[in-house]
Amino acid sequence: MQGRIIQFLKQADGYVSGEEMSDDLHISRAAVWKYIDQLRQDGYDILAVPHLGYKLQSLPDKMLAHEIQFGLSTKFMGQKVYSFDSLASTMDEAFRLGMEGAPEGTVICAEGQTKGRGRLGRSWLSPRGKGIYCSLILRPKLLPTQMPPLTLMTAVALAEAMRQTTSLQSVIKWPNDLLIHSRKVAGILTELRAEVDQVKFVVIGVGLNVNTNSHQLLDTATSLKIETKKTINRIEVFQAFLRSMEIWYGKVLKGQFDSVLDYCRQHSATIKKHVRIHDATGDAQGQALDIDHDGGLLIRQASGVIVKKMAGDVMTLRDKS
Ligand code: BTN
Repeated sequence: MQGRIIQFLKQADGYVSGEEMSDDLHISRAAVWKYIDQLRQDGYDILAVPHLGYKLQSLPDKMLAHEIQFGLSTKFMGQKVYSFDSLASTMDEAFRLGMEGAPEGTVICAEGQTKGRGRLGRSWLSPRGKGIYCSLILRPKLLPTQMPPLTLMTAVALAEAMRQTTSLQSVIKWPNDLLIHSRKVAGILTELRAEVDQVKFVVIGVGLNVNTNSHQLLDTATSLKIETKKTINRIEVFQAFLRSMEIWYGKVLKGQFDSVLDYCRQHSATIKKHVRIHDATGDAQGQALDIDHDGGLLIRQASGVIVKKMAGDVMTLRDKS
């Protein structure tokens, strides 16, 4: 209901009376007042003038569900949003909701996380109100071994959204990071609930440093605000991401992963670089040649032997291009 009241206020040209809202929304005037009060507590500045009604003065800088959904116009991505003030990790909440049967495209986001996690047991710094910290639930009919394309697809959707909303062009550090000027601006974490031959659901976690200041980041990281020298509207970036994600996910499901690969090749921080990659099977070092049709990274070792890695921690050693 809060969402509908806000929609009313946003669409109004001037003041809206409590009576108009109570008639249209089929709720009492007292209920209208109660919702207005809750919206103010969420940070909306709403003016109330006797005999005139209510007027929206300004919106809060918060990742609220009804702000994310306002004018979103996607078919399923973000059509269900759970927003929290603080969570340990949006991943845990997404798994809980996924187990309860939350539909594909469900979004969980938080203003801050106390135990935000990254790949390989690392933590993800999640200062409150500064970044986008979200998890998406997807239910693709894919095998557990077919997950790498989903991570790369998310990187592409995020890079595209950042480009559209801030004009910043990031590059993709295989398999899951977005860099600007060699510093990490976003990370993607793909986890899944699966049986041997069947994915039940996938949770894609995205951490994007938006208005994060340098003292809140590691030396190797950056934010959209640092790069543009402007405060960025997180809702606009996130809506662009959800729209882009729906389109790229649709392509992957139709077997058009090549278009994701093309984008990754054109905007890669890894291909042609001399890299060392570490995974559970050990280290490999050599020139990163290409990303294969299944999302794996092809590396030519000094011996000339080409190996393929499906995941791992990549260190760029020096530029051989
Ligand atoms: C990485 O770079 O290793 C991936 C970082 C992923 C961070 C995001 S923030 C939202 C979601 N919740 C988490 O705990 N992690 C992911």
